[in-house]
Amino acid sequence: MSQTKKVLKKLNIKLSDFKKNKEELKMKGYTIIRKNKYLKKNLKQINKIIDNLILSEGKKAGWEGYEDLYKKNKHFEKGAFRLGGLVYKHEILRKLILIPEVLALAYDTIKDEIKICSLNFRSPKKNCKDQSIHIDGLPRRNKNDGFNGIIAMFYLNDSCINSGPLRIIPYSHKKLGWPDNYLDVSKRHKKEINLFAKAGDIVIMNLNLWHAGSKNISGKKRGTIFMNIKNRNSLQLLNYKKYIPTEIVNKLTKEEKYLLAVRNIDKDQIVTRGESIGQLHLDENPQIIYSL
Ligand SMILES: [Fe+2]
Repeated sequence: MSQTKKVLKKLNIKLSDFKKNKEELKMKGYTIIRKNKYLKKNLKQINKIIDNLILSEGKKAGWEGYEDLYKKNKHFEKGAFRLGGLVYKHEILRKLILIPEVLALAYDTIKDEIKICSLNFRSPKKNCKDQSIHIDGLPRRNKNDGFNGIIAMFYLNDSCINSGPLRIIPYSHKKLGWPDNYLDVSKRHKKEINLFAKAGDIVIMNLNLWHAGSKNISGKKRGTIFMNIKNRNSLQLLNYKKYIPTEIVNKLTKEEKYLLAVRNIDKDQIVTRGESIGQLHLDENPQIIYSL
């Protein structure tokens, strides 16, 4: 039995569950888990923890793994509040990595050993830039290539048309290469839809689904925690072996240690942060100027 299967079994996650969500994710490239029990129950507290972190970290927020690019008094992303390294900042946040639906859907997409690669927060500020259409994972080059992973978005506030909802193009995850190979990514796609979710919902998206954030016109809070789960042979966006303090690693369960790849037997990641999809995209398409 694969290691991931064993871990999921230990966590009492049945691979035959969540059929409807699995089918939707496979077919359309995304699915919404409405009113997740854990998220709903802890929503107030999670929002409080996030607000406190934003306040206490100030302009240093979100730079984990990017310290070499840090400039004093410069926000990590001008148009959004960002926080990084959430797996080691609070236990309630860390437990988001154990939500059964998310792990089961990740395994069903990857069909191989899995690894948590990031847990970050983002909330777009008023009138931030409209994003170009992009993918969050490496592009597939051949039809026989498997999918690299999923992104789970934990909604901390309701999203509406004026607070910069996510725009997605259903079914586009099956296309090979970059979205730019098919269309002008700065324009709206005729088949795109706005995705509305409520606080307590989890949107799960294939990393290869074409999508973009839109402008937050109202300035209304739209906080989301993002988690990447990828094939275990991928790099983590933040090197957890290096960043998670030893006293926290010692507190983790066996299953958490496996998912975060911080066991002694897990291969050391040499680099601090994994590949930047945006950078790879620019390297392969130098004529394109766009914002992720
Ligand atoms: Fe994205």
